[in-house]
Amino acid sequence: MEISQNIRWIGVNDHEVDLFEGQFPVPEGMAYNSYLIADEKPAVMDSVDAHFTDEWLSKIDRELGGKAPAYLVVQHMEPDHSGSIAAFAEKYPETTIVASMAAFRMMKNFFKTEYADRRVVVTEGSTLSLGSHELQFITAPMVHWPEVVMTYEKSEKVLFSADAFGKFGAHDMPREEDEEEEDGGWACEARRYYFGIVGKFGPQVQNLLKKAAALDIQRICPLHGPVLSENLGYYLGLYKTWSSYEAESKGVFIAYTSVYGHTKAAVELFAKMLEDHGCPKVVVTDLARCDVFEAVEDAFRYGKIVLASTTYNGEVYPFMREFIGHLTERAWQKKKVGFIENGSWGPMAAKTMMKLLEGSKDITFADSKVTILSAMNDANIIQLQNLAAEMLAD
Ligand SMILES: Cc1cc2nc3c(=O)[nH]c(=O)nc-3n(C[C@H](O)[C@H](O)[C@H](O)COP(=O)(O)O)c2cc1C
Ligand SMILES: [Fe+2]
Ligand SMILES: [Fe+2]
Repeated sequence: MEISQNIRWIGVNDHEVDLFEGQFPVPEGMAYNSYLIADEKPAVMDSVDAHFTDEWLSKIDRELGGKAPAYLVVQHMEPDHSGSIAAFAEKYPETTIVASMAAFRMMKNFFKTEYADRRVVVTEGSTLSLGSHELQFITAPMVHWPEVVMTYEKSEKVLFSADAFGKFGAHDMPREEDEEEEDGGWACEARRYYFGIVGKFGPQVQNLLKKAAALDIQRICPLHGPVLSENLGYYLGLYKTWSSYEAESKGVFIAYTSVYGHTKAAVELFAKMLEDHGCPKVVVTDLARCDVFEAVEDAFRYGKIVLASTTYNGEVYPFMREFIGHLTERAWQKKKVGFIENGSWGPMAAKTMMKLLEGSKDITFADSKVTILSAMNDANIIQLQNLAAEMLAD
């Protein structure tokens, strides 16, 4: 696949993987991108997951007509990208491996060698000439591991962005064009990927964006998802919003758990109240029946969140506890949060949820709390109205 005259996609599509990184469902599969920069000294940008070593090596072979690449640039050592390095190094003993010192240390642990006799160690600002192309390296620690470097190719103004600007989903899925979405549906799975994988590292992503702002970028080649060639301001803008934890969309996100349906009924009534008062968007999720990372995505997307839960053994329902854990470990912040709780003898869910959010920065709790004793009563309806008014106020 041609990205430009001299840059080729030599990645693979994975339709076997069920959970990416062991936890994220990927119903549309996953792409592990690798690129070849054709020049006097050809460079391969990253490898692919070990399940696809042969497919990847044969693509390199085909592109170069059997000639050995001069360089393998390793931007990220996570096995979805590093899994084929050892096989590559064996097949091409003359090829120089290019990576950060931290990446070489990881290679020593993964592959029992750090390629000391055939490597170039790069750091911030290092450059490498391929002939007419020149690579400039940018360190990006914790986007998404500590050893990450990204690469800017000066002649074609391409940023090889490692895991940043990636997205779940393989490239060869049949796609229905979504007329309404200017990005062809990119943000939906890119947002779930971003918050799932690097959500915790907002400040590090901001540092990267500052470095990127100093470059003239015409194309972004990430390690997952499509190459971005148009409207780059849109994608950079989303990353700016996401990494600063600002709300991206107006509206209210309601996440609930319910055993017998009474909490669910209250949530449904509450959602209707919000809609009737002109709330621009109301999103409701049953935490027991969704991909929790879709819920995590929405909790970051919206600035106003309502958590509704049944009381369970004097605490909160397990799905809610797990959900809040996913948020707090990703530095969830800058939110207004309301609570609906339910209990048949001693409701404790709201208190427990507040406690779980205790260490989170910049979270404002709504004053109105809704406490249901088994089934909704008239007082609950007033409480719901009060909470709705608070969530609608700016
Ligand atoms: C396993 C289990 C544990 C529960 N523990 C408590 C509890 O500690 N305190 C309480 O008030 N209610 C407790 N309940 C009762 C529910 O919280 C209560 O019936 C609530 O109204 C259920 O709401 P729902 O209709 O939305 O499922 C428990 C229920 C279950 C199934
Ligand atoms: Fe990664
Ligand atoms: Fe990755």
